[in-house]
Amino acid sequence: MIKNNINKPFLKWAGSKRKIMATLKEYIEPVTGSFIEPFVGSGTVFLNVSADKYVLADWNYDLINMFRILQHRGKDFIDYARDTFFIDGTNEEEKFYVYRKQFNSTKDLEEKAALFIYLNRHSYNGLCRYNLSGGFNVPFGRYKTVYFPEKELFYFAEQAAKCQFLFQDFKNTMALAVKGDTIYCDPPYAPISVTSNFTGYCAGGFHLNDQKDLAILAELSEARVIVSNNYTEYTCELYKNATELIELDVQKSIGSKGGSRKKTKEILAIFN
Ligand SMILES: C[S@@+](CC[C@H](N)C(=O)[O-])C[C@H]1O[C@@H](n2cnc3c(N)ncnc32)[C@H](O)[C@@H]1O
Repeated sequence: MIKNNINKPFLKWAGSKRKIMATLKEYIEPVTGSFIEPFVGSGTVFLNVSADKYVLADWNYDLINMFRILQHRGKDFIDYARDTFFIDGTNEEEKFYVYRKQFNSTKDLEEKAALFIYLNRHSYNGLCRYNLSGGFNVPFGRYKTVYFPEKELFYFAEQAAKCQFLFQDFKNTMALAVKGDTIYCDPPYAPISVTSNFTGYCAGGFHLNDQKDLAILAELSEARVIVSNNYTEYTCELYKNATELIELDVQKSIGSKGGSRKKTKEILAIFN
């Protein structure tokens, strides 16, 4: 699972740090105490940062449930997911909607976890979106072939022995840090343009107040905190009290496979 010296995650995840991981690693390491990620997503960052202990959290229950099942059931879970949901006939529209409905209704946590991986690989653009009632609602992805990320799952399961997975809001996770720990925060992006009367939609229900709270907690923390975000006038102002502000060039692909690419800038704010 190492590609260009980067350990690949087994999930497709919006905002994954794969493209800038090599650079990011240089700013994050060395880690002395625990490595804490309040917004773990696919886990790309912890998979590439060396530490003795990892505290990994996210405000997505299905994601954390699946990580915990993988951590505890390892090979048995990987075999079950592959042999049940990644076999002939499962990459079909009709079957996809049956499985999506099953995912939304099952109370069996292991089945739900395996279906989460199935949906991640078969949904449109690998998106993870829910309707207001909490039901997963991304349509069928129409992929010609689907990859079962077996090697990546095994690598993750091996690393998970040193991890604690928590389903909670970032504020509670940041409160766990002590002096000597390193926290890496990758929140949903702040809007590109923020005017004084901004009331628009914020990605993933993460609002400007959350962005502000995160900046304050980063500043007050006893731990070393590194925060990623879009590089904009707003975020430069938000993190103006950081010890260091770094501008990173990122090549992003827009839309589906083969879609256009554009260069954007990200900020890294480091609070020592
Ligand atoms: C940009 S993604 C993180 C991507 C991750 N660094 C990676 O490489 O895959 C942001 C994550 O924040 C999570 N999230 C959104 N609001 C949150 C909150 N209030 N507290 C904790 N996590 C939250 C989302 O579920 C999502 O997984």
